[in-house]
Amino acid sequence: MSPGADQYQVKIQWHAARGLVAGRSYVLHYREQNIPVTITAIKHRLHPETGEHLSAKNLRTGEAGVVNISTAQALDIDFATPLEIYDIDTDAVVATAVIEFALRRATNIRWQQLSIDKAARAQQKQQQPICLWFTGLSGSGKSTIANLLEKRLYDTGKHTYLLDGDNVRHGLNRDLGFTEADRVENIRRVAEVAKLMVDAGLIVIASFISPFQAERQMARQLFSAGDFVEIFVDTPLAECEKRDVKGLYAKARRGELKNFTGIDSAYERPEHPELIVDTCNFSAEACVEQIIQYVLALRSAT
Ligand code: ADX
Repeated sequence: MSPGADQYQVKIQWHAARGLVAGRSYVLHYREQNIPVTITAIKHRLHPETGEHLSAKNLRTGEAGVVNISTAQALDIDFATPLEIYDIDTDAVVATAVIEFALRRATNIRWQQLSIDKAARAQQKQQQPICLWFTGLSGSGKSTIANLLEKRLYDTGKHTYLLDGDNVRHGLNRDLGFTEADRVENIRRVAEVAKLMVDAGLIVIASFISPFQAERQMARQLFSAGDFVEIFVDTPLAECEKRDVKGLYAKARRGELKNFTGIDSAYERPEHPELIVDTCNFSAEACVEQIIQYVLALRSAT
């Protein structure tokens, strides 16, 4: 038995059609609870016949490998029991895993209880903190609407912070590019930052392409119900490409920019966003108004 560890090295068999990406969050079903689990590192792939260790950045369907996992809470688990790992979004089994050994005891790092909490900080600011998460293609209008929304809130005395993809990538995430794994890590970090800022009592506006459903779901799960509002800026690719404010679509079409969202990197449309804004038929001001009305109605209902 493991005495309550939250990090393990496991041998994994990957089943899902979509490959394993290090950094992505999945779910473990453990004692009738859903426990978020992140595959933090891929150590190596195993040769199907010889078991030889092969270097690997990802695992594809049917491949086996050795990975490190980190669970959101300590597990008290029999190492012999195989674990099933599920997709965070569809709940389909993506992998089976057998624990090799525990990496770290969860008991070494405890959650520090602080006396000033989110409610106290929010009360001081006379507002209800929330994360308004914008997703959509590059050039869809996320930044324009987010910017205008922040200005509206600021003008009415609200305490806000806008996290924007282009800006965050100059500092905190300057080491990340646009591969699938880097985008996963980009969203993981900014979602954690947004969560801290909501805990600080702020109204956080996050504006990231955030192209994958799994990471948007991961971000959502960091927040209490009602504290995360997903806003899909649903501007069709053809329109974004026509606008091409930064000239990036033209570059991508010329093959000078790889992994560009909508061209040679996927954008998964949100299935159940709280809000969809339509920048083709409505002005940025009208979209902002729609968002403000939604949040006011949400807050008066809670
Ligand atoms: S995300 O996919 O990881 O969420 P993020 O929102 O941080 O992306 O950054 C997107 C911005 O980076 C775009 O608005 C664009 O200006 C710039 N960019 C540069 N290269 C790419 C690329 N390959 N795909 C998408 N956006 C890119």
